[in-house]
Amino acid sequence: MSNNIEDDIENRETLLKVKNLSKIYGNEKKEALKLKKSGLTKDEVYAKTKTTIALWEVSLEVKKKEIFVIIGLSGSGKSTLVRCFNMLNKPTSGNILYEEKDISKYNKNELMEYRRNKISMVFQNFGLMSHRDVIGNVEYGLEIKGMSKEERHKKAKEMISMVGLEGVENKPINNLSGGMKQRVGIARALANDPEILLMDEPFSALDPLVRKDMQFELLTIHRKLDKTIIFITHDINEAFKIGDRVAIMKDGELIQVDTPEKMTSNPKNDYVKQFIDSADKTQVISVKNVMITPNSLVRLRDNPQIAIKVMRESGVSSAYVIADKTKFQGVITLDDALRAQRESLRLSDILIRDIKTTSPDTLLTDIITDATEARFPLAVVDDENNLKGIISKVHVLSSM
Ligand SMILES: Nc1ncnc2c1ncn2[C@@H]1O[C@H](COP(=O)(O)OP(=O)(O)OP(=O)(O)O)[C@@H](O)[C@H]1O
Ligand SMILES: [Mg+2]
Repeated sequence: MSNNIEDDIENRETLLKVKNLSKIYGNEKKEALKLKKSGLTKDEVYAKTKTTIALWEVSLEVKKKEIFVIIGLSGSGKSTLVRCFNMLNKPTSGNILYEEKDISKYNKNELMEYRRNKISMVFQNFGLMSHRDVIGNVEYGLEIKGMSKEERHKKAKEMISMVGLEGVENKPINNLSGGMKQRVGIARALANDPEILLMDEPFSALDPLVRKDMQFELLTIHRKLDKTIIFITHDINEAFKIGDRVAIMKDGELIQVDTPEKMTSNPKNDYVKQFIDSADKTQVISVKNVMITPNSLVRLRDNPQIAIKVMRESGVSSAYVIADKTKFQGVITLDDALRAQRESLRLSDILIRDIKTTSPDTLLTDIITDATEARFPLAVVDDENNLKGIISKVHVLSSM
């Protein structure tokens, strides 16, 4: 079974390739560069030159259709970096290749074409036009492109329903809640049908519950539209929840890029480790990381005597039942097996079929309730109902 997301991502085509990107703000660029190269930190360079090393030698690749999350403390360079991706910021040195072509070498028309059709941005403070209604905001980019009224209305409506705002097309922007405003922002960005969606802390102004809804919404939209999303956040839980891969930045430098799972199991240094330790582990660890193999397994066609023997040998009072090699059937208890032996019943007569199941890639956080309430450990099954392991309340709670 292929449940290794990372392998998939590593094999994917690269969409944006960033090579040795640096961005320096201030008047003493040469001096700042020299000091930075001699080993001073960003803060030390600033103290001496009043010049900021906002990005330093950043290299990374964004793969097609992934959600690439950039995380770091305030001032670490996240916004500066993504604003280079659409050339709102001009890098001091280094390259950004979009489909192998250097975007800093684009002429005016190429840049305009790139911004209108390939890359869109969603802002933290929504950046909506308050004198226009919802649909007026969503279709704005299409209007600029010269699309006919009818056509752009149709497209805008489609995007509005995509973000769950059907029915509010003609509401004034100021009558909307924060969450709704951000949905409009997303619909507007999507209306252009861009390849890449840049999102600079889009949810940080929202209250926690709305924020959770929006994270879910974003994942749903991503699944439906298959865009490449570059998403900035301060929040490691948010990063791990939505990111296929997460890039962690510090003082303008890129420290590590990895899948949440790999970053958790293999943090590059103490800085990364501290960041991760502040996260809620259940949001990162999935069932496959903590499930165990059931120590009493019987086949549906076995007779009760065999089942009793298996359970006795492993000192347990229930067994997991499979058929057709490893297809999961249910659970039997020792008591029922003893009764079956007395009354000449078959295992299928005493099989408990309504056992809760889960999949190997489910996050622990999503099964806590099931695992704590269930009578038996949950059966972990793959897409084809093959039994992969079991997971109990104890496994879930002890791994948190
Ligand atoms: N226009 C500018 N002129 C001078 N310095 C700037 C400018 N924009 C950003 N900086 C500096 O560059 C560094 C990186 O800033 P940036 O806004 O990219 O950080 P960030 O990670 O997005 O922070 P936040 O989480 O607060 O949004 C900071 O030290 C900031 O002070
Ligand atoms: Mg920022």
